This record gives sequence, C-alpha cells and structure tokens, in this order.
Amino acid sequence: MDTAIYLPTEENIKKCARLLAAGGLVAFPTETVYGLGANALMPDSVKMIYAAKGRPSDNPLIVHIASVKGIEEVAETIPDKARLFIEKFMPGPVTAVLPKRPIVPDCVTGGLKTVAVRMPSHPVAARLIAAAGVPVCAPSANISGLPSPTTAEHCYRDLAGKIPAILDGGACTVGVESTVVDFTVDPPRLLRAGGMPIEYIEEEIGRVETYSGGKVALCPGMKYKHYSPAAEVYVAPPGESELLLLAYDEMSEVGKRPVIVATSGFMQAAGGRAFYDAGAGAEDYARELFSLLRRADDDGYDTVLCMGTERRGMGAPLMNRLDKASGGKTLCRREKEERRR
Ligand code: TXA
Ligand code: MG
Repeated sequence: MDTAIYLPTEENIKKCARLLAAGGLVAFPTETVYGLGANALMPDSVKMIYAAKGRPSDNPLIVHIASVKGIEEVAETIPDKARLFIEKFMPGPVTAVLPKRPIVPDCVTGGLKTVAVRMPSHPVAARLIAAAGVPVCAPSANISGLPSPTTAEHCYRDLAGKIPAILDGGACTVGVESTVVDFTVDPPRLLRAGGMPIEYIEEEIGRVETYSGGKVALCPGMKYKHYSPAAEVYVAPPGESELLLLAYDEMSEVGKRPVIVATSGFMQAAGGRAFYDAGAGAEDYARELFSLLRRADDDGYDTVLCMGTERRGMGAPLMNRLDKASGGKTLCRREKEERRR
C-alpha cells in the first residue's frame, strides 16, 4: 500500500474525512501527538488500527469528537464535574472517561463499560473530525512501544506501507499525550498525566484522586512498555544533573556513544559532550522529548542521558514518559547505592 502525505488544504482534509468515514485509516495531527484515526463505529476499521500499530487489543482507544454533541452521542451520562471539565478544558489536551453508550463497539473500549472522549484543539484535527461526521478513535500514530509521533515524518517512518494517508499539520505544540481523567468515580481520578497539568484541572473542578494504585495498572494502556527508542535511556534525579556528566564520561570510556538531553541552561556545563537542547523548561522539554528520543536513534547514539525535573506542572507528564522510556533506570552515585545495601 502506498502511503500519501497530504498538506492540510480544505480539499485534502475533506478527502481524508471521506476516507475515514468509509473505513480507512488516516494519521492526523493533534496538539498533543499525531493520532492514527479510524471510524469508531466500524469494528473492522478499528481492528486495523491494532494491526497497523502492533498494539495489544485489550488496550482501549480514545474516541475523538468535534463538539459537546459528539460527546453526548457516545457517553450515556455526563456527571456535573465532567460537564465543568469539558466546559473549561475542551477543546484541549485532555480526555474524559465516561460511561459508554451501546453504540460504541467493544473493540474500541477493550470490553470496558466506559469510553474515553477527547476534543482536540488542533484546527486540522477539529476540521477532519467534523467533516468525517463520525466519532474517530485514535491512538498515537506510532508502532506500539516506540516514542509517540510529533511530526508527520515520525508517522511515515513507523507506518509507511501500512496506512493510506497521513495529514501533515506540522510539529505538535504540546508534545505529550492528553491528561486522562476518569469521571465514573467521585472524586474523579487521574489515569494518565498529560498535556494539561493536573494542578490547573484541580483549580477548576476540585480534588482529583492521583493515587496510581501501586503495581495495579489503572489506565489499561499504562502497563505496557512505552516510548522507548532503540537506545538505552537513563534519567538523572532533579538537581543532580552533574551525574549526566559523570555517566557520559564513564560510558564513553567503555566505548558507548551517549548523548545528553537537558534544558538549555545545562549546555555550558556539558562542555564539548554530545548534547540535545530540550529548551527552557519542562514545557519545552515535554514538547521536544519524543522527537529527541527518535533523533538519538537516527544520529547513532546508543545511550540517552536525560536530565530529570520536578514532578510539577508539565514536569509530571514529562517525568512519567521518561520513567517509561527508561524502564525506571535512574542514575545515582555508587557510594549511595552501596550504603543502602
Ligand atoms: O493525546 C492523546 O490522548 C493522543 C492523541 C492522538 O489524541 N492519543 C493517545 O491514545 O494517547 P493512546 O491510545 O496512545 O492512549 C490512550 C490512553 C491509554 O492509556 C488507554 O488505556 C486509556 O487512554 N483509555 C482509553 N479508553 C479508556 C477507558 N475506557 N478507560 C480507561 N482508560 C482508557
Ligand atoms: Mg500511545
């Protein structure tokens, strides 16, 4: 199958919308990451998503809609707090989990009685979904396990030959997936930290339960290995970025090819070491992270040494993605480690 990349002209958006409505797969930009869309009401198309991504089919998909009316078409009820959340944060980088209507097929929700809904603010996504005239389910448009795609090129690299169309809407402005909040419980519960900081959400709707259940995976998708490039990823705890330099030098000595990922302020300390600039702070860093992890592979580095940040604001989803990309590999001083034994 040939995979076409379309610029987001009105005509191309309409063409992709028709393709979607008729059961084809289309990768499209959102403000968070690129999505791989299918008509959520056509089970055969939904199943093609799992095949294209190599994704386990018990991992439920987010249903993308273009209006509040679209939410009402897939959700049985909308509790008051969810209404407030929708009013304050949609369209935007958030997802609400609500009781589902029977119209939503089981293959979309992984057999759950709930449906996750999201109204993207990206103008191309909004126009595409509205023009398709159906709810569009879409996971991130990457091969399962790899860093999520934040450009059309990332989608092409992963899915060329497997899907007919990619809409190119430029680089994503948020760079990490939506914040997922479950409204089928009270207080509502955070299932995945994401593009809208939980602090802002709590300011508007009151307390959100953030207990993540220890070893029990709440957000079904979060139990799988995620976001990993081929290179090994390590994270330095916040405030201990000098560990990046020590690890870099030790690894270089034994023949590894490391690169440091850190905010601009650390560039000078990195001296002549290989360095990717992640921008001014957590917000920039979150936007750039997935792209930089992919770039490390492209540039032939085998080790990525990442600066850690505080888990506040956009630092929370950023560190969550870093935890997963690294499989929890944190840098620490050996003396400390030995003292603990
Ligand atoms: O920003 C985003 O959310 C992107 C863009 C494309 O919209 N989409 C995305 O989809 O990240 P995906 O499939 O990679 O992640 C969906 C997350 C998974 O962790 C999944 O388990 C959770 O949402 N989810 C979906 N439906 C759910 C449900 N009914 N109950 C609980 N969690 C659900
Ligand atoms: Mg994903």
